[in-house]
Amino acid sequence: MTDDTRTPDFPTVEVTDLVKSYGGVRALAGISFTVARGEVLGLLGPNGSGKTTTVSVLSTLQRPTSGTARICGHDVVADAARVRELISLTGQYAAVDPGLTAAENLAVFGRLTGLRGRHLTSRIDDLVDQFDLGAVRGRRVGHLSGGMRRRVDIAGALVTRPEVVFLDEPTTGLDPRSRAAVWDTVAGLRDAGITVVLTTQYLEEADRLADRIVLLDRGAVVATGSPGQLKSRAGGAVCEITVADGENAARATALLTGFDVVDTGDDPSGPPTEPGRARLVVRAPDGVTTVGEVIARLDGVGDDGRGVEVVDIGLRRPSLDEVFLQLTDAPA
Ligand SMILES: Nc1ncnc2c1ncn2[C@@H]1O[C@H](COP(=O)(O)OP(=O)(O)OP(=O)(O)O)[C@@H](O)[C@H]1O
Ligand SMILES: [Mg+2]
Repeated sequence: MTDDTRTPDFPTVEVTDLVKSYGGVRALAGISFTVARGEVLGLLGPNGSGKTTTVSVLSTLQRPTSGTARICGHDVVADAARVRELISLTGQYAAVDPGLTAAENLAVFGRLTGLRGRHLTSRIDDLVDQFDLGAVRGRRVGHLSGGMRRRVDIAGALVTRPEVVFLDEPTTGLDPRSRAAVWDTVAGLRDAGITVVLTTQYLEEADRLADRIVLLDRGAVVATGSPGQLKSRAGGAVCEITVADGENAARATALLTGFDVVDTGDDPSGPPTEPGRARLVVRAPDGVTTVGEVIARLDGVGDDGRGVEVVDIGLRRPSLDEVFLQLTDAPA
């Protein structure tokens, strides 16, 4: 491997105005983004938004209609052979052979890339260690749990020591425990300094794993940023106050003049307020400072001389769910 792929002068993945049409279907309508070396990028979006198409173009399985994509500076069309040496892909549907054992599957991946003899054996041993597959290395993959099978699949993708790993929906259909196992695996890739592009429809997964998110909707990038940045885009932090009942809520609202009360009552998309309680949501542009000011104000008494019975008060950011819905909610 030459050193040119290891210099940090250019992004590991660079996508510019990428368009992909399948006949009359425009799957990608001109997307651009970059991924830095060692970064985990979450490609997030609803069904049909173009996630698999993006991964297919970046991994040279599909040719772009127009625009460019580069991996470590190499064009995916002009330098496709070189790109294939630098990447590995695990698809939306696991590529392992269920009739072979875990170790045999890894050997198949290894032989495909030219590894033989003790080089192959020692690489398999390393991967079995790294992915904690010791207990299942001799078992047929068809008999393994979905999560274990995914780990064999991802380990197979690493036989070549790639620069970039593409994982297309690595946890779709897995139970929570298997999903957590795959999350550990992705964290392991990141620790090993491998650049990861991961597609998912699970916001929680993107929130947990991705350093940065590119949110796709109908073949276009609708937002880019860290999970935290995307959350702040959806209007910033809010202070949520739970009070004893509606009467207290009215008193609290009166005391909070000057604050931006955005909601009183139940959030239809959130968990219901306990029966008998009432809720107020106030914009908190200054975070905890705003919360302090709200608390000080609620310490006062209303016109009727009575105080407010506060049950709970807290600062929260909008969830990634709220961001996702807001940003992918454009009319069709
Ligand atoms: N081989 C193909 N031929 C024709 N249209 C295709 C082909 N592959 C994808 N498409 C269309 O391109 C669009 C994007 O599909 P893509 O598979 O990239 O979406 P996705 O974000 O991966 O969706 P999912 O979450 O369902 O996996 C969809 O409208 C899809 O129907
Ligand atoms: Mg897909």
